[in-house]
Amino acid sequence: MEQWQGAMEGMVIRMDNLFENMTEQQAREQILKLVEEYCNTYHNQKKEFVRGQRIPYASRVYDSREMTNLVDSALEFWLTSGRYTAQFEKAFADYLGVKFCSLVNSGSSANLIAFMALTSPLLGERQVRPGDEMITVAAGFPTTVTPAIQYGVVPVFVDVTIPQYNLDVTQLEAALSPKTKLVMAAHTLGNPFDLGEVKKFCDKHGLWLIEDNCDALGSKYVIDGKEKFTGTIGDVGTSSFYPPHHMTMGEGGAVYTNNPLLHKCIRSFRDWGRDCICASGQDNLCGHRFDRQFGKLPLGYDHKYVYSHFGYNLKATDMQAAIGCAQIEKFPSFVERRRQNFERLYKGLENVQKKLILPVPCENSVPSWFGFLLTCREGVERKRVVEYVEDHGVQTRMLFAGNLTKHPCFDQMRAEGNGYRIVGELVNTDRIMNDTFWVGVYPGMTDEMIDYMAEVITDAVRS
Ligand SMILES: Cc1ncc(COP(=O)(O)O)c(C=O)c1O
Repeated sequence: MEQWQGAMEGMVIRMDNLFENMTEQQAREQILKLVEEYCNTYHNQKKEFVRGQRIPYASRVYDSREMTNLVDSALEFWLTSGRYTAQFEKAFADYLGVKFCSLVNSGSSANLIAFMALTSPLLGERQVRPGDEMITVAAGFPTTVTPAIQYGVVPVFVDVTIPQYNLDVTQLEAALSPKTKLVMAAHTLGNPFDLGEVKKFCDKHGLWLIEDNCDALGSKYVIDGKEKFTGTIGDVGTSSFYPPHHMTMGEGGAVYTNNPLLHKCIRSFRDWGRDCICASGQDNLCGHRFDRQFGKLPLGYDHKYVYSHFGYNLKATDMQAAIGCAQIEKFPSFVERRRQNFERLYKGLENVQKKLILPVPCENSVPSWFGFLLTCREGVERKRVVEYVEDHGVQTRMLFAGNLTKHPCFDQMRAEGNGYRIVGELVNTDRIMNDTFWVGVYPGMTDEMIDYMAEVITDAVRS
């Protein structure tokens, strides 16, 4: 008979009938104990840092809790959104201090839904319609802007400031037109944009504000005397849980709001465009499944199949949510470590300020840094610096698209001269495209790694 030595208490486990005389719960506990042991044995082994060893700009930080949650969810085999999704949505909303959170399958999906929610006819006069305008920036990630373009809303690009790398609020009034309906922008690499000014501008002109919070989870901003998390000050906030981000579930994202009507629209767009709010597998929560009248449908048409929007299916699975439930518990410690890493790297690079511009946090903010942005001063060639840093094992990144309007996806619009507007000149955006790069500060980095990074970057610009 095939046997193997179990990891727990020297137990011998027979392979032909592993769970004989066990309840399902006991069997599950045994599997999860083995998974924990497996994770502790083969993952996350602390190795001493060796100079020159690759330092990635970001990485997952996890322990056996994430892995046991994942397997627990797999054993349950519910697969689509279920109890872990509900648990995560509540825990995440509680952390941020918002009323409503919807888990989705990526940050890009979160942006898509946040934007599309504003196109709902349920919003009456404030509905965003094709041909309207959205103020945003070109120095960032494409999927902050993509939903607007796909829907036929015109992005209006304003420049950013250096060394904050966020939208230049002095350009907002110049960007405004009678067609402006919203501002949608990201808090760049954890540094909040000037939410005080942007919110004031939006309130003054009756505009929606979507905060792409995908790179800034845990950042705080003081507004009207109150400290709030970024993503919770505008009408809708979005997060990404792709592995390099502040926390992960492999792929995943979230959309959050305090506005019940927007929440209804968000859920509808996420869940096929349906009107019904029953969770997966649930029926007749409202008790009116067969007695209402919608659109031109016959009276009593099954509410489960009534569509109030042209929606998508952008739900995440419960396995992703299960990982998220473990991540959110340790999340505050991630933010703290990111801040410490940023401070240490900043100190290590203070002496190179004649060559490189160091990042500056937005006033009234406490950033939860995603990365450490550096812009080469005149006479310092980025290509040379980045090659040196990479050759010495430190992974670098550009500020995503640099100037999004220069990318091939804009070729047709650029050639035809329509589909977007630029306010003034994107001088700093172009500067970022040419002279800026960043390195990581993720919580898995040790002090030795940070010190080595500072040393390598310093060497790269010495000469
Ligand atoms: C600012 C910003 N928004 C949105 C996204 C998209 O997130 P995801 O990769 O989960 O689709 C990213 C991705 O890194 C991002 O940096």
